[in-house]
Amino acid sequence: MKLGIYPGSFDPLTNGHIDIIERSKKFVDNIIIGISDGNNKKILFNLDERINMINKTIQNRKIKNVTVEPFNGLLVNFVKKKETNIIIRGLRAVSDFEYEFQMTGMNFKLNSDIETIFLMASDKNQLISSNLVKEVSRLNGNVSKFVPPEVEIELKKKFK
Ligand code: PNS
Repeated sequence: MKLGIYPGSFDPLTNGHIDIIERSKKFVDNIIIGISDGNNKKILFNLDERINMINKTIQNRKIKNVTVEPFNGLLVNFVKKKETNIIIRGLRAVSDFEYEFQMTGMNFKLNSDIETIFLMASDKNQLISSNLVKEVSRLNGNVSKFVPPEVEIELKKKFK
């Protein structure tokens, strides 16, 4: 049974993330969504809020073989602790590349057993990012095409 770790801030989960999770099932049997505690990032939703939104979405959509776990510290240590060697990441525009290239290179230097597999975002999700979703929602825009309803509700509560 192959296990993949899909790490990120998920602040909040978007339809782009869900697409990557669904498509990853073509090459892994189980997925752990590893939610980083945020490190020094400015975060809108605390860890519990982010976990709850993802869990509700997974349950409501009946997404199988996917669990959520928070982690702090190095991602490679979390991956090792879970006894796997697969990291899954989504890639959107070229602008993502530099950041992902550096992270993958550093993770590889830290543990060369661990491989990062990238999935290109589907064209309908190319422009969705958690940051833009937060901005649109903060300015009262409609984000229903970009996030699951479970997340849209929580965004509305934050910015009401
Ligand atoms: O969704 P994000 O914010 O782009 O995800 C970034 C994340 C959580 C994958 C990255 O910040 C990370 O791996 N953090 C854990 C700390 C770590 O291992 N840092 C070194 C990576 S080179």
